[in-house]
Amino acid sequence: MITASDDRHTWTARAIRLLEADANRSADTHLHVFPLPEEWGIDLYLKDESVHPTGSLKHRLARSLILYALVNGEVGPDTTLVEASSGSTAVSEAYFARMLGLAFVTVVPRSTSPEKIELIEFYGGTCHYVDEPLEVYAEAERVARDCGGHYLDQFTFAERATDWRGNNNIAESVFSQLEMERHPVPSWVVVGAGTGGTSATFGRYVRYRCHPTRIAVVDPEGSAFYEAWRTGDRAVTTGCRSRIEGIGRPRVEPSFVDGVIDEMISVPDAASIAAVRMLRDRTAHWAGGSTGTNLVGAFQLIARMRREGRTGSVVTLICDSGVRYAHTYYDDQWVAAQGFDLAPHRAQLDRFLATGEWTP
Ligand SMILES: Cc1ncc(COP(=O)(O)O)c(C=O)c1O
Repeated sequence: MITASDDRHTWTARAIRLLEADANRSADTHLHVFPLPEEWGIDLYLKDESVHPTGSLKHRLARSLILYALVNGEVGPDTTLVEASSGSTAVSEAYFARMLGLAFVTVVPRSTSPEKIELIEFYGGTCHYVDEPLEVYAEAERVARDCGGHYLDQFTFAERATDWRGNNNIAESVFSQLEMERHPVPSWVVVGAGTGGTSATFGRYVRYRCHPTRIAVVDPEGSAFYEAWRTGDRAVTTGCRSRIEGIGRPRVEPSFVDGVIDEMISVPDAASIAAVRMLRDRTAHWAGGSTGTNLVGAFQLIARMRREGRTGSVVTLICDSGVRYAHTYYDDQWVAAQGFDLAPHRAQLDRFLATGEWTP
């Protein structure tokens, strides 16, 4: 544990070493193969970010955001860390804050899943609730101001805090894990967007490395990203709260870098949930809703590649574990209460896996 009596420089150096040591103790996340018919000549890979110590892709971002604030001199031994998060980021930030002996407060919508609240508090974090999704930003700024803390602000800094050149970012990890595959350079990488940081990292990395890989971003119902990308108007707001945790936003976030996105796909929420249940049935992987959204997008692109007579590989993510959604996406009563009819979407997914065709 580092002590507050250390002078600021010493304290910061020790804090950085602790974060680096955590990275050194962590193995890289797996790249699983999703079973598709061999004769299609197309391989689908799932980068499993649910195996990070804090259970989601946000483990990487949380470490980067806190490192970024440390090297900017914005955090010291008595700084309370503050965030606005739908959950995954806050879970990971609470873990690192505890490691550094810092208090952590996150502003979350009141409807955030109880599993995530429990996890944030398990790592010593405090939740501060707001009713409206769009209130989280101003409220997090106010909380930080009132306690003299530091607002980590994932939505603004995700694209800046992550090293897109490499440094074992998620993109570099995927490309090195594909080196021995029959299609080592993927035709498509398919991800969702919450902050937009993940798509920005992949998009910048493939351009920096001069790979022909295209980036597709999937978006759930009621999100502003798809509309903004389609119209070019970044001022779009929807005021809706996404029902697929972690992705989809009521406004276009500063870290959403539309210049690196080659395609966007809007995915019905019921299709996302049907897809993640299909994944569990076919592979025993338990994942969250945003993984289902990824799969629906990936299947559509694979069907197009087949129509165009192309072979190649497609990569997408398992973003977090399904354990967090036992009472929602995997609960038939909750699904019915949301008015979701999963059957037609499940039939569409199974038909695709049997024929390679995607029928809207
Ligand atoms: C479960 C889950 N999936 C996907 C994402 C999207 O990642 P990003 O914020 O990098 O766009 C998030 C972001 O919070 C998430 O929590």
